[in-house]
Amino acid sequence: MSEPRQDDDRSLLLTRAKIETKVAQLAAAIDRDYAGRSPVVVGILKGAFMFLADLVRRMETPIKSVEFIRVSSYGTSTASSAQPIMLVDLSPKTVEGRDVIVIEDIVDTGLSTQVAMEHLAKLNPASLVLCSLLDKPSRRRVPVTAKYVGFTLPDKFVVGYGLDVGELDRQLPDIYTIDG
Ligand code: IMP
Ligand code: MG
Repeated sequence: MSEPRQDDDRSLLLTRAKIETKVAQLAAAIDRDYAGRSPVVVGILKGAFMFLADLVRRMETPIKSVEFIRVSSYGTSTASSAQPIMLVDLSPKTVEGRDVIVIEDIVDTGLSTQVAMEHLAKLNPASLVLCSLLDKPSRRRVPVTAKYVGFTLPDKFVVGYGLDVGELDRQLPDIYTIDG
């Protein structure tokens, strides 16, 4: 068994209380914008699982279905891989003609989010928007814009609340920056 990661290089950035307040605000904004509609929510695995779970339970909008896709990104390092590919896909029927809200944990370079958005756009949704808890705009290499953004961050690597470093730290209820 591998040793737990040392946690002395973590600094608390966003408390669970702050995240909870923001998630409620995002859910309220989505409810206002989707009144009378029933969108499909597509989470991008793995990082978005915790945010998605909290967001949908705050939403009053009836959700048509909850779907997931997975795009390869960083492997186990903190350096972005050049060419993200689709690893887990959804049935095209669930998206076609539907209002689709894509849920991301973070938009960093934008490379993997762009792959996901372009893939979903080809399936002819009625509308397609992105909701990301976190955004690091200074890192962007391709133009990806989220309609709903929780927190805009500087160029720091963050963990917790679904975000990992080498698969560790996803379970933390708060968000931390880590050194290195
Ligand atoms: P992008 O393609 O560079 O925009 O980012 C792809 C994915 O890398 C994100 O969806 C996250 O899962 C992961 N990622 C980017 N920045 C961070 C970070 O600061 N901490 C943990 N994961 C990150
Ligand atoms: Mg992700």
